Amino acid sequence: MGGLWDYFRSSRLWRALRRVTLFRSCLYFLIELRRTWMSPATVDSDFERASDPWNYETNPLELDRFRRQLALLTSVGEDFGRTLEIGCAEGRFTESLEPLSGELVVLDLSIVALERAKARKMWGTNVSFGQADLRLDPIGRDFDLIVVAGVLEYFPKGNTLRQVIKKLAAALAPGGCLLVESTRAAQPAEEAWWWPMMPRGRRINELAGREASLREVASDVTADFCMTLYRKRP
Ligand SMILES: C[S@@+](CC[C@H](N)C(=O)[O-])C[C@H]1O[C@@H](n2cnc3c(N)ncnc32)[C@H](O)[C@@H]1O
Repeated sequence: MGGLWDYFRSSRLWRALRRVTLFRSCLYFLIELRRTWMSPATVDSDFERASDPWNYETNPLELDRFRRQLALLTSVGEDFGRTLEIGCAEGRFTESLEPLSGELVVLDLSIVALERAKARKMWGTNVSFGQADLRLDPIGRDFDLIVVAGVLEYFPKGNTLRQVIKKLAAALAPGGCLLVESTRAAQPAEEAWWWPMMPRGRRINELAGREASLREVASDVTADFCMTLYRKRP
């Protein structure tokens, strides 16, 4: 079934149909519905298939994203005492967070990813790694910075996402910063009237901005990514 779907998506018929607005809108609704209600594959399978499954080490777009994320963090002009990174993958951005942080707690759901991140380099004694599911497990509290990049897309249901955002805000110390980065979604999925049920792309960041305890400090939105830095109200 998956093979047939992939074949269809690479066909000329698919490309032609995508140009028809109504068709596109219905199609993206169905795609998002499917994504939302199908049980997600285990996160480990992404890393078992290949190392660096999203080409973070080589893709210029991703390298530019990391550079922009770092620029947002340094734009607030402070070192962060306690930092939490959720969804570290193989630790590419963790490397940039280490020098900015007094203490760095690094969590991921994938054991495979965590093992690779740990083996990536000799980390300082201030860096610790642990397995946690952001939806279900305790994540600690009183952080001066929380970075959640490319992770909130894993929670396609609006209600789950709202609960996770509340949890992130609660884990911040007053005045602490939250960096949310999301990969932009296809325009029909970002603009559709049904986005509050299945938020995608920049809508994920907008939802975070609706959390009463957070206020937006800075943002960087490109055609591919949406990054927003929030600060918890004192
Ligand atoms: C697309 S990668 C993003 C990696 C990195 N943050 C970045 O920006 O390059 C998503 C990461 O989030 C992790 N992840 C997915 N669902 C998670 C969950 N419920 N709790 C914690 N981590 C999760 C995955 O294992 C994966 O390492």
